[in-house]
Amino acid sequence: MRVAITGASGFVGRALSQALKEAGHTPVAVRRDASGELRWSVERGFDPPEALSGYDAVVHLAGENIAGGRWTDARKQSIRASRVEGTRRVADALRIADPRPSVFISMSAVGYYGARGSSQLDENSEPGEGFLADVCGAWEAEAKAASSLEDLRVVRLRLGTVLGDGGALAKMLPAFKMGVGGRLGAGDQYMSWIHLDDVVRGILHVLTHEECSGAVNLTAPEPATNAAFTAALGKALHRPTFLPVPKFALRAAFGEMAEHLLLTGQRVVPKRLLETGFEFQHPDLGAALSAALR
Ligand SMILES: NC(=O)c1ccc[n+]([C@@H]2O[C@H](COP(=O)([O-])OP(=O)(O)OC[C@H]3O[C@@H](n4cnc5c(N)ncnc54)[C@H](OP(=O)(O)O)[C@@H]3O)[C@@H](O)[C@H]2O)c1
Repeated sequence: MRVAITGASGFVGRALSQALKEAGHTPVAVRRDASGELRWSVERGFDPPEALSGYDAVVHLAGENIAGGRWTDARKQSIRASRVEGTRRVADALRIADPRPSVFISMSAVGYYGARGSSQLDENSEPGEGFLADVCGAWEAEAKAASSLEDLRVVRLRLGTVLGDGGALAKMLPAFKMGVGGRLGAGDQYMSWIHLDDVVRGILHVLTHEECSGAVNLTAPEPATNAAFTAALGKALHRPTFLPVPKFALRAAFGEMAEHLLLTGQRVVPKRLLETGFEFQHPDLGAALSAALR
C-alpha cells in the first residue's frame, strides 16, 4: 500500500513510517515544508489540490503539540485550528482525489471523553465536556464528514497516552530519575496508556481490517490510576515515588493544562480493537514501561 501520512515527522508518525516500510508498504510523508514528497498547509490545503490521487490510504496525525507549553489563548487556537481545519483540508483533498484512497485514518484522542472519574468508557460512551473534549469532537466531526464520500472507509482513532521513546514519558523521566517523581494530586485520576509498538500495530490493524470503521479506541486494555502508574514507573526505574505533587503546584506551573491533562483523566477500554481480533504486544503496564525505557 502507498500510505500518505500527515504529521509523519512526529513521535507516532516516525514509528508508523518505519513499521509500514518493514511490512512492505510505502509510507509517504505529507509535510508543511518542502522536505516531504507531498506538501500541504492547514491554511491553504494540499499543493496541488489533487495530490492524494492514487494513494491507497491516508493516515492523518498532524496537530499542534497539546503539551508543548502553557495554554495561552493563541496556543489553544492553534491546537484547535491545526486539528479541525487541518482535518477539513485532508477531507477536501480526499473529495477531489481520483482515484480516491480507500481508507482514511484520522487521529483523535481519549480527551474526547472529557474528565470522567472511574467510569469505564468504550466507543459508545457519550462525549465529555471542556476544551479538549470540544476540540476532539470538532476534529472527529470533520473526519466523519468524509465518510459520505463513495468507497471511503473512515476510522477515527481515540488515542491514549503513548509510552515510548519520547512523548509524555520523556517529560516525566527527569523528575522520576531524580527520585522526586510522585502521584499528581489525589492520584485517583485514570490514565489510558498504550505502548508505541501497539499504537503502530493498531494503526496497521485498522488499515487492513475492513470491519474497522468509525470510532476506535487506541488504548491498552487496562488503564491505570495515576497512583498506580506512578508506582509502576518508579519500580521500572528503581526509584522512590514518595512525594506527591500537590494540585496547587501543578496549577501554578501548568495553568489550565494541568486540569485537563494531569489532574483528571478517563478510563477507556479498546472494545472495538478487541472485538476485531487485535492482540496487544504490551498489555501489562510494568512490562510496557520497561520496554519503553530500554
Ligand atoms: N503522543 C500521544 O501520547 C498522543 C496521545 C493522544 C493523541 N495524540 C495525537 O496523535 C497525533 C500524533 O501525535 P504525536 O505524539 O506523534 O505528535 P507530535 O510528535 O507532536 O507530531 C505531530 C506532527 O504534526 C505536525 N504539526 C505540528 N504542529 C502543527 C500545526 N500547528 N499544524 C499542522 N501540523 C502540525 C508536525 O509534522 P510536520 O512538521 O511534518 O508537518 C508534527 O511532527 C496528534 O494529533 C496528537 O494530538 C497523541
